[in-house]
Amino acid sequence: MSPASEQAGTADWYRHFGTVDAPGNSACYAEWSVGIADDPELLRRINDWPHNKRQPLLMLGAARFLGARVGPYREFRSFLDAHWDDVSRIVLSRSTQTNEAGRCAALLPSLSRIAAAEGRPLALIEVGASAGLALFPDRYGYEYDGVAGAGSGGVTRLAPAGAAPGSYPVLRCATTGPVPLPAGLPAVAWRAGIDLNPLDVRDPDDVAWLEALIWPEQDFRRERLRQAITIAQADPPLLVAGDLNEQLMSLAAQAPADAALVVFHSAVMAYLDAAGREVFRDSISLLAADRGCHWLSNEGHTVIIQTDGSSVVPEMDEARLGGRFLLLEDGLPVAIAGPHGQSLEWIEAASG
Ligand SMILES: C[S@@+](CC[C@H](N)C(=O)[O-])C[C@H]1O[C@@H](n2cnc3c(N)ncnc32)[C@H](O)[C@@H]1O
Repeated sequence: MSPASEQAGTADWYRHFGTVDAPGNSACYAEWSVGIADDPELLRRINDWPHNKRQPLLMLGAARFLGARVGPYREFRSFLDAHWDDVSRIVLSRSTQTNEAGRCAALLPSLSRIAAAEGRPLALIEVGASAGLALFPDRYGYEYDGVAGAGSGGVTRLAPAGAAPGSYPVLRCATTGPVPLPAGLPAVAWRAGIDLNPLDVRDPDDVAWLEALIWPEQDFRRERLRQAITIAQADPPLLVAGDLNEQLMSLAAQAPADAALVVFHSAVMAYLDAAGREVFRDSISLLAADRGCHWLSNEGHTVIIQTDGSSVVPEMDEARLGGRFLLLEDGLPVAIAGPHGQSLEWIEAASG
C-alpha cells in the first residue's frame, strides 16, 4: 500500500471513530478524532507506528494517561506536539485492555443459575481477564430495573452479604424480557484469569492506564472502576500471563474439584483469528467432557459472523445486536447485553 493510501486509511479510521463510535459517549473524543482525521501532519506521525498501534482509542488513551485535558482540538494538538515522544512510547508499550466490572451485571444471572443448578460454589476462570475485575461478581452490588414483578419501583437490588454500602460498586442494568434474576449472589470458591499481559491492580501505572482507557466524560465508569480496583486490591486474583489457548487446560486443572467450573470471556474473541477461536471451543468441549465445565461467552459480532461470512447464530444479525454483545451459555444464545453490562435483553425463550 502506498503511504498516501495508508494515510487515507488512518484518516478514515479516526473519522469513523469521531463520527460513529464517540458521539454519545465522548464529545471530546469525537472532536479530537475528527480533528486528527483532518490533520495530515499528525496522520503521518501516527502512520510511523505499526498498523495495530494506530487505533484511535489507544492513541487517545495514551494522551490521557500522560495528562491531556478535556478541551478544544487545538489545545490537544499542542499537547501532542509537546509530548509526542512519550505518546509514542506509551502507544508502543501498551494496548487497549479496558477492564469493565459492569459486565458482571450481564454475567450474574447465568452465574447464579449455574451455581443453583449445580448446588455448589463456583470456580471461575476468565480468559482475556485484563486486571481480573470481572472475577468478583460476588463482591459487587447490583440494581436491575425494568423487571416485571421486581421489588420497589420495579428495581431488583442485590448486595454482597456483610459489606458496608459504599464499599463496593453498584452495577446498574436495565432489563428487558424474562431475565432469571437471582435472589442472592452466588458463592465463588476460587477465581483465576489468563491474559497475554495481565494488569496488576497493585501497580499504580497499570491502575492509571485502566483509568486512561475510560472515555473522558464517563465519570461514573471511572468511579466504578476505582471501587472495583479497591475490592481486587484487597484480594488480588490469580492471573496467569500467556495465550488463553496455551494456558487454559493447566489453569483449569488447578480449579478445586468440588466447585462448579465456569470459563467465561467478554470482549476477547475479536483478538483471536478463526483458527484460535476453534481451538478454544475444542478446549471447552474437552473440559466439559473431562471434568465438567460451563462456558459463558459475552462478545460482539465476532461471535456471530464467521470468517466465511456465515453465522453461528442464524436468527441473529448485526443489526439486531446494534453494537451490543451476545451472551451465550454453553454455546446457546440467552441474552443481548449492553457492551458495558448496562442493559440485558433476555432472548432465551424466543430462541430456545
Ligand atoms: C478488551 S479487553 C477485555 C477485558 C475483560 N475481559 C473485560 O471484559 O473487562 C481484552 C483482553 O483480552 C486480552 N487478550 C487478547 N488476546 C488474548 C489471548 N490470545 N490470550 C489471552 N489474553 C488475550 C487482552 O490482553 C486484553 O486484556
